[in-house]
Amino acid sequence: MFKSFEWSYHTDRHQYYNDFSTRNDLYAKKQNNMCGIVGYVGRRDACPILIKGLHRLEYRGYDSAGVALVNPDGRLNVFKCKGKVSDLEHFLDGKDLGGNIGIAHTRWATHGVPNDANAHPHYSESENIALIHNGIIENYRVLKDALEQNGYTFRSSTDSEVLVNLIEYVRATSGCSLPEAVRQALRQVIGAYAIAVVEKGNHDRIVAARQSSPMVVGVGDGEFFLSSDAASIIEYTEDFVYVGDGEIAVIDRNAPLKIVTLDNHDAKIDIKKLQLSISQLEKGGYPHFMLKEIYEQPRTIVDCIRGRINPDTCEVKLSGVIDHRDRFVNARRIIFVACGTSWHASLIGEHLVESICRIPVEVEYASEFRYRNPIIREDDIVVAVSQSGETADTLAAVELARKAGAFVFGICNVVGSSIARATDSGAYIHVGPEIGVASTKAFTGQVTVMAMLALAVGRERGTVTEAYYNEVSAALLHLPETMEEVLKVAPQVADLAKIFTYAHNFIYLGRGYNYPTALEGALKLKEISYIHAEGYPAAEMKHGPIALIDAEMPTVAIATPDHTYEKTASNIEEIKARGGKIIAVIARGDEQVRRSADFVIEVPVIAECLMPIVVSVPLQLLAYYIAVYKGRNVDQPRNLAKSVTVE
Ligand code: AGP
Ligand code: GLU
Repeated sequence: MFKSFEWSYHTDRHQYYNDFSTRNDLYAKKQNNMCGIVGYVGRRDACPILIKGLHRLEYRGYDSAGVALVNPDGRLNVFKCKGKVSDLEHFLDGKDLGGNIGIAHTRWATHGVPNDANAHPHYSESENIALIHNGIIENYRVLKDALEQNGYTFRSSTDSEVLVNLIEYVRATSGCSLPEAVRQALRQVIGAYAIAVVEKGNHDRIVAARQSSPMVVGVGDGEFFLSSDAASIIEYTEDFVYVGDGEIAVIDRNAPLKIVTLDNHDAKIDIKKLQLSISQLEKGGYPHFMLKEIYEQPRTIVDCIRGRINPDTCEVKLSGVIDHRDRFVNARRIIFVACGTSWHASLIGEHLVESICRIPVEVEYASEFRYRNPIIREDDIVVAVSQSGETADTLAAVELARKAGAFVFGICNVVGSSIARATDSGAYIHVGPEIGVASTKAFTGQVTVMAMLALAVGRERGTVTEAYYNEVSAALLHLPETMEEVLKVAPQVADLAKIFTYAHNFIYLGRGYNYPTALEGALKLKEISYIHAEGYPAAEMKHGPIALIDAEMPTVAIATPDHTYEKTASNIEEIKARGGKIIAVIARGDEQVRRSADFVIEVPVIAECLMPIVVSVPLQLLAYYIAVYKGRNVDQPRNLAKSVTVE
């Protein structure tokens, strides 16, 4: 079993952890879409409104769902289960669903596998309070230890249950009101959250709060709606109040809406009129999930490194590595197994691990590895990389490696997925549900985790200099801002895409760390635009592919500053000399390649080994816009499935 997996996220056992709040402030504006909450208080039956709201949030991807209702006689009932909202509906059959107040949740697990116990809402110890939570409580381990010392026990492995018990503890020890207990409890919390809380005996009031996770209150006539996305409640009202970061909303059907800050100051209630269509809202205003996910990357990188890099010391901690330190220190070889985009990320992982940890690495297509009787030794580490955690070939490769006695480490996005469960240890990438079939934010999350893995292992093995370690981890800390920067190229890439919709073939070139980026750029274009595209190491061109070059064959050349820059510049000249059209991805201010390229996309420059993360953004956008101009179904390209569970 993937025993250490759920630990890999938390560094909260380390004391420095409490200093992370500065990052929360820094990225407070970013929205977190894990996963969905709904609330209602008014005169109507709450349950049908809540269930409908959950259905409207289904597009966000989730693994379990639940509701909490307060009966008119004050009883507090919680119903929840693993699975779809329709499973919850079956589960609710014949249950006591009375109540004009309730809260409901779809969960996308971050802490603890998807099962009934980990589903939300969570009762407090006494079952007097129920809470739903979207997001991640970074310091939950510290808080949980303290609560356990005070006699609290826990029914789930979630970070969220800690919060409901903390609220109960504050309430019991200080005798304050529920809103005040929520406020005081949240002042102790580090992390991202949208929460809603109801309590036994009070059928008038929901207390809700948010920090870095979206939340909106719909204001009706004698009734209020609560949601992480206005789309789920747009049919009831056009009047919305967006709860700000670090604000607590007291939603009482007998009183006007009240919002206070964590410092206990009244916040201004600003009612906004919203008249958007539901499908516009579901995609957060973006026309496609793919574009939304491309734009989410500054935030998903924050979530990916959250709690793993100390911003003061630049120290990187991955518990999945710490718990198995000796395996990593003594590894004779690392074998990455993956498919598709995850395989491309693994090629970057190879480069990172070999140069930072000096451990020999092989990268295998999982489908090939599993059928070719590979040599696997007990001191090998097999790293299985998979967004979905369900890819059949990767799972089979994991099983094969385990049988051969290797230590298997997973890099997955979906918590509790088959690969996460089948591996010995691992690290989640925590980029939230990826809905678009073409992987974007998962790729950048995978490379980010691989960079952290390489740094953590390199330090243990003593193969990385202090200066380089600090340079790369500082660059990782600044990566979200760099991603914001690089996204500014979107309008220019959109214009460029218009020019190239005619093309039937594309070549993508890169070297070193950016050779896999070229492969990934080509895959993105193939998948969603159906244009044939090939990625090559730039120097390979003259060994054959250059024969393809003519005025009809555009080349995307990645020529950002690295130790092969001059050579790539020469490769570009060679293509130019044969009449090829060049779109070059260059560093801001680069003059040399700019002169030979027909078009340039300028990107910000960070540590060389992290450049694939930055460069992949314009390549994602190029594929996206070309596909849009060609009228393709961007989110669900023909013949493709999001998760390939057959071999
Ligand atoms: C990515 O854009 C593709 N849809 C596909 O190549 C994908 O990366 C591959 O199927 C592997 O999926 P996984 O990461 O979920 O294992
Ligand atoms: N961290 C919480 C959990 O794993 C909430 C996840 C979510 O946002 O759905 O239960």
